[in-house]
Amino acid sequence: MRQAKSAYWQNIVDSAKDEQGNPRPFFSMAPMEAVTDTIFRRVVAKAGGPDVYYTEFTNAASMVHPEAKFSIQGRLAVAPGEQMPIAQIWGSKAEAIGGAAKLLPEMGYEAVDINMGCPDGTVIKNSSGSDLIRHPDTAVELIAAAKESGLPVSVKTRLGFNKVEEYHDWLETIFKQDVQVLTIHLRTRKEMSKVDAHFELIDDIIAMRDRISPNTLLQLNGDIKNYKQGMEIAAAHPGVDGIMIGRGVLEDPYAFNHEETEHTLAESIDLLKLQLDLFDEVTKTVTPKHFEALKRYFKIYLRGFAHASQLRQMLMETHATDEVRAILDEHVGDLVKNEDR
Ligand SMILES: Cc1cc2nc3c(=O)[nH]c(=O)nc-3n(C[C@H](O)[C@H](O)[C@H](O)COP(=O)(O)O)c2cc1C
Repeated sequence: MRQAKSAYWQNIVDSAKDEQGNPRPFFSMAPMEAVTDTIFRRVVAKAGGPDVYYTEFTNAASMVHPEAKFSIQGRLAVAPGEQMPIAQIWGSKAEAIGGAAKLLPEMGYEAVDINMGCPDGTVIKNSSGSDLIRHPDTAVELIAAAKESGLPVSVKTRLGFNKVEEYHDWLETIFKQDVQVLTIHLRTRKEMSKVDAHFELIDDIIAMRDRISPNTLLQLNGDIKNYKQGMEIAAAHPGVDGIMIGRGVLEDPYAFNHEETEHTLAESIDLLKLQLDLFDEVTKTVTPKHFEALKRYFKIYLRGFAHASQLRQMLMETHATDEVRAILDEHVGDLVKNEDR
């Protein structure tokens, strides 16, 4: 088995076991802006979560800016008792990335991930995210600056900016930086999420890693829907250390469950109620959250049963968590009883 470069990551590798106690790849929930905050991370944990969590990406320049730092507080908030996620930061300046990474340990963070894959126009205009693929020298400086924090540093990126072939040079550059983990979303920036992830390149990338930096953990991302599919991919490509799942969790909150079991409507409603409660808790104690943003989740929990779409439609008309609770209390009892029959 691969020896990770730090005790932090070695612990994650060692703890990842299948039902028979055999080593398996570690699974993580992908960092997702406006999704993977402390609220949703805790809901997914309740549903049977992954081994590793990431925060939403957080602007390093705001973290070190005296006035802006409060605006990003909610992104890095972690609840007492919650499993500590990895902080994902983004930026283009070594001072900001280095300064931000140094603030993380006092917030309880034990690892930092640098975003080098975001395709968003505003982030690219700031010479950050996937734009770093076009500026590898800056990428190298950012990694070095983050390492000064003493935290284990990982990078999440794409294959290239415009062309798939760019991965030869780009990934080689990153592997040479001795990062702990390289997470690769198997697409270019140009491809966004519109074409299938390039699974055909996995073995070549494993060979590159083995040649250049054999102790860097390799985590795959893109189009992997759940634990079962992740395990199949890892089995077909020995050398894969980690599997990262993003949108799969938005389709199925139980995506990390090892067994594909049927979940009852009552269980799903309980997850939704937990999300409502945590939404209120975070709004009161950390930062106001936007109620409208909650609506994207209704379809995750309420699907696959008779009258699901009518119930969702009613919930889409709501404006506060208590209205959602009232509708659930009024209608769900009967639906759950029907399901039991
Ligand atoms: C709503 C949303 C927000 C995202 N925000 C981030 C982010 O903050 N940082 C990041 O590295 N990637 C972000 N991504 C990309 C995902 O982490 C992941 O790379 C991508 O969705 C592909 O994986 P998947 O097919 O499993 O979803 C985001 C994706 C989605 C759908």
